[in-house]
Amino acid sequence: MSAPESESDAAGLMESLFPGARLIVAANRAPYRLVSGVHGESHWERPAGGLTAALDPLMQRFGGVWVAAQSGDGQELDVPPEDPTYQVEVLGVPAETYRAYYNGYSNGGLWPLCHNLVERAHFRPSDWHSYRQVNHMFATQIARVARTEDVVFLHDYQLALVPGYLRSLGHTGPIAHFWHIPWPPTVVLRLLPERRLLLQGLLEADWLGFQTEDSVDSFASAARKELGARILRDADGVRLLYEGRLTQVAAVPISIDTERIEEIARDPLTEGRIHKLRSRLGLHDSALMLGVDRLDYTKGIPARLDGFARLLARYPSLHGRVRFVQIGVPTRTEIQDYRRLASAVRRRVAEINRRFRTPGWLPVRLVERNLRLDQLVALYRLADVAVVSSLYDGLNLVAKEYVAARVDGGGALCLSETAGAYHELRDAFPLSPLSPERIAEGLARAIFATEEERERRMERLRAAVAANTIHTWLGRVLRGLRSAAPQLSGENATPV
Ligand code: G6P
Repeated sequence: MSAPESESDAAGLMESLFPGARLIVAANRAPYRLVSGVHGESHWERPAGGLTAALDPLMQRFGGVWVAAQSGDGQELDVPPEDPTYQVEVLGVPAETYRAYYNGYSNGGLWPLCHNLVERAHFRPSDWHSYRQVNHMFATQIARVARTEDVVFLHDYQLALVPGYLRSLGHTGPIAHFWHIPWPPTVVLRLLPERRLLLQGLLEADWLGFQTEDSVDSFASAARKELGARILRDADGVRLLYEGRLTQVAAVPISIDTERIEEIARDPLTEGRIHKLRSRLGLHDSALMLGVDRLDYTKGIPARLDGFARLLARYPSLHGRVRFVQIGVPTRTEIQDYRRLASAVRRRVAEINRRFRTPGWLPVRLVERNLRLDQLVALYRLADVAVVSSLYDGLNLVAKEYVAARVDGGGALCLSETAGAYHELRDAFPLSPLSPERIAEGLARAIFATEEERERRMERLRAAVAANTIHTWLGRVLRGLRSAAPQLSGENATPV
C-alpha cells in the first residue's frame, strides 16, 4: 500500500493495521492548557512549538488519550475546547521535581547536548533522579490507560525512559517512540553520564523514529558502541538487536496538517487579515522578511539579525524598502540561558533600529508573543521572505508551514542547511547560520532573485511539502510499528 494522502486514508490504515486500537500519545507538553485567573475565571492557552502543533490535528482526527505533565496539580481535559474529540490527562508533578526534570535534565542537559551545544549542557545527579521519577510517573499512567491492543506513541527527549519502564510494568503492546530533535554524534553523546540507561530505555520500544538519516546512523552507532547492540539491515531498513529484543529504527521526517493550513490561507477572512496587517506594519511599498521562532538559542536569532543589519549596510537601496518582523515566543524562561538569549535579541533589535531607522521606517520589529494559527498564516502570506536560520534543528515546522501557506505560489524561503527540514526542502535559498556575512548573502539572493526563480523554487517546495503531510507521516509510523511489533524473529536480516 502506498503512503496515505489524506486523513481518511490514515484513519483506514490505523483500523486495518491495528483493529480496535486507540492512539495513546504521551509527550511532556499538553496541546491545550486551562489556566485559572486570579478572580477564578479561566481561559484556554495553546503552547508554541512544533510537536503539539503537529500532533493535535492527528488526535483530533483519531481520538484517544494524550498524557502530559506539568508542575503542580494535574488536569483532565476534553479537547479541543470548541468541539472535543480527545482527552488530555496532565500529570501533576511536585514543583521541585518538575523543575529538576524539565529545566534541569531535559532542557538544561539533553536539549543543548542533542543540539551539539556541549558547553551549555549540565547533568546533575539530582536532576537525573527527578527525570527518572517523572518518566516513571508517565509509564504508570500510560500502563493504567492503555490496553494491550492500543498504539502507545511516545514523544521526544523528555520521555526516553518511558518505554523501558512500561515494559517493566508488564505492558506488552506496541510502543513507538519519536525523537523530535537531533540525535547527537557518538563523541558528543559520550558527555552524557547516563547515556547507556537512556539507550536501554529507548530500545524497549518496538519502533523508534528520527527526523533524519544522520540521527538514525548516530543512534544505531551509539547502540552498537555503548551497548553492543547488533545492527541488522534489510529491506525494511535498520533494526537493532539488543538482549533478545528487536527495535526498528527509521528516519521519518514529521510534517504539518497541510490541508488545514491551505484552507486557512484560502479563507476570505485571511485576505482581510493580510490587508489589516499590511497597513499596521506600514508595508505599503516595502517588502517583509519574517522569522517565527520560540526564543531559543538553537534558532540562531542573533546572527540572523546581524545578517539583516549587514544586508542593510551593504544595500542602502533597501533602506525604507524592507522590514524584518521577528516573532519570538518566550520559552523556558526559568533557565538563565534563555533569559540571556531574549535580552540579547532585544538588544540587537534596538541597536539595528537606532542605527538605520529614518522617520517613518523602523527596520526591525520584535513581537514577543505566540500567535494563533490564522494570524500566522496571514503573516506567512504577507512575507516576501521567510527566514529560518537555526544552528541545529530536528526539523523546523515553520519552514513547512510557510510553504503550505503560499497557496498563491509567491514568497521565498531562506533555510538553514543544518535544519532537518533542509533535506526535504532543497529548493529553499540555503543559509549558513553561524556567519552574519553569509546570512546577508543568502537574504540578498532571496530578495533580489527574479520572479521566475522565486516561483520555480516555491513550486518545487510546495510539491515537496504536499508529498509528506502529517497524515503521510502517521501512515509511515503505523506501518513501521506494525512490521516491528509483535517481535520479529530477525530472519532475513543481515548483520553488519
Ligand atoms: C521542541 C521540542 C518539544 C517541545 C517544544 C516546545 O519542539 O522538540 O518537545 O515541546 O520544543 O518546548 P517546551 O519546552 O515549551 O515544551
